[in-house]
Amino acid sequence: MKIWVPSKAAVDVLSDLPDVECVVYDGTGPAPDGAEEVEVWIPPLMPVARTPELLGRMSRLRLLQTVTAGVDAYRPHLPEGVVLCNARGVHDAGTAEWAVGAMIAVLREFPGFAAAQREGEWAYRHTGVLADSTVLIVGYGSIGEALERRLDGFEVDVIRVARTARGDVHGQDELPELLPRADVVVLLVPSTPATAGLVDAGFLSAMKDGAVLVNAARGGVVDTGALVAELSRGRILAALDVTDPEPLPSGHPLWTAPGVFITPHVAGSTPASGRRMLRLLRSQLLRHLAGEPLKNVITGSY
Ligand code: GLV
Repeated sequence: MKIWVPSKAAVDVLSDLPDVECVVYDGTGPAPDGAEEVEVWIPPLMPVARTPELLGRMSRLRLLQTVTAGVDAYRPHLPEGVVLCNARGVHDAGTAEWAVGAMIAVLREFPGFAAAQREGEWAYRHTGVLADSTVLIVGYGSIGEALERRLDGFEVDVIRVARTARGDVHGQDELPELLPRADVVVLLVPSTPATAGLVDAGFLSAMKDGAVLVNAARGGVVDTGALVAELSRGRILAALDVTDPEPLPSGHPLWTAPGVFITPHVAGSTPASGRRMLRLLRSQLLRHLAGEPLKNVITGSY
C-alpha cells in the first residue's frame, strides 16, 4: 500500500507497518511520481496549491488524513468514495496555549513594550488585564475545551458558543445578546460556507469598546475590511494567527492597523502538535490496515 506522508518523522512511525510503502511529499518542489497508486495521502501542514490536481490523479485513494483540524483545503475537492479524516485533538494544546498567550500579549500590551524596548525606552504605563474578564469562545469544540482548561486559574468567566445549543453551551443564534458581555472573543470555528464572514461589521459593532478579538480559526471567518475599519477607529483590539488573505501581503492595511497583533498561522506549529500528530497517524493507519472504523471522519456539516 502506497502512502504519501508529509515528513521523514511520519515515515519513521509508519514504515514498520505491514505492506506499507511511504513516500515523503512535504509540499515543496514537484510532487513525486506515482500519484495514481497512492491509497492514503497525509498532506503537509500548509495546504499545497496543487491539491485539486493531485486528488484528480489519485484514482486509488481511499483515505485522506489531514494533519490539521481544518479540512477546508480538501473538502471541496474530495473525490467520491474517499474518506476524509481530520486531526481533531492534535492541535488542542498548541492552539489553546497560543490563544491564552495572544490575549495576554494584547491586554498587557507586550507588542508595545517590545517596540519600546527596541528604542531603549522605559515606557511605564498601566495596561489592561485578563483577570475579572469574560471570555467568549465561539466554536466550542475540543480546542475550546482545552482553552477553557487553561483559562481556569486566570479568574475569568467563560461563555461557550457552538453552532447549536447543548447543555451549558449556547447556540450561535444567541451571539447578538452574548457579544456585548465579552471582554475577549475567541474564534475557533471551522471554515465552512456557514462561517464565512461570520464576523462582519454587525458582529464587530456588537463587541464592547476595548474588547479583544482573537482569531485562531481561519481568516475568512472575519470580514477583513470591517475589522480594519473597527481597529482604525480604535474601538477594539485583535490578536490574529490567521488572516484573509494568507500569507498577508506586505503593505496590507491590517499590518499597520492600530491595536492588532499578528502571528503567521503558527498556533499549531510546535513540537507538541508534532508528537500528537505522529501518534494519531500511527493509530489511524493501524485502523485502516485492520479495516476498523477510523477516528475523526468528517461527514455532513462538521
Ligand atoms: C490549523 O490551522 C489547523 O486547522 O489545524
